[in-house]
Amino acid sequence: MKTLLLSVFVTAFALIVSCTPPGRQEKTAEQKELPSEVLYPADYRSWTHVKSMVLEPGHPLYESFGGIHHIYANAEAMQGYRSGTFPDGSVIVFDLLEALRKDSAVSEGNRKVIGVMYKNSNVFTETGGWGFGGFSDQKGTRVQLDAKSACFNCHAGRKDFDYVFSSYRP
Ligand code: HEC
Repeated sequence: MKTLLLSVFVTAFALIVSCTPPGRQEKTAEQKELPSEVLYPADYRSWTHVKSMVLEPGHPLYESFGGIHHIYANAEAMQGYRSGTFPDGSVIVFDLLEALRKDSAVSEGNRKVIGVMYKNSNVFTETGGWGFGGFSDQKGTRVQLDAKSACFNCHAGRKDFDYVFSSYRP
């Protein structure tokens, strides 16, 4: 009986050892949950509104970003706006709509694009730890883009604030 028990223990131990590659650290539950690509941020409209801005014709970025945009941040990204360092899991949304001028007022028109920055420093090592993505509608239709040339090269100028341009007005 004793020998049987002992051999069961030895087998179980050998199994555990063989399943754990040497030198590999167990990941925390939080790291495991983080996706490795930029996903459509389905509930961004309920996040913190950081700021809004209108780019008029004549602005150097009008061609790509002309119109009215609103910026939203999830809870992790809000920690970043306060501290200057955005933790993994931070998501920031750049919600761009046409700007309609009528009767001395500027109001929201059709959606142009939903730009997304998503921090996962283990995955997006070429672009400051941020993944950049674009969606053309609220169904999450993906816009094909080259994150480095279309997005990061410009955001790189904001290295001092973790590649984020906007700031949060309390
Ligand atoms: C030519 C420069 C430039 C390029 C290219 C650019 N951005 Fe930005 N982006 C900005 C600026 C400037 C802001 C700040 C706007 C504001 O303060 O309202 C910004 C803001 C953002 C924000 C809100 C967080 C922040 O940094 O303030 C997101 C998200 C974003 N951009 C995503 C993208 C994506 C995705 C692309 C590529 C498709 C892209 N950007 C390309 C200049 C750029």
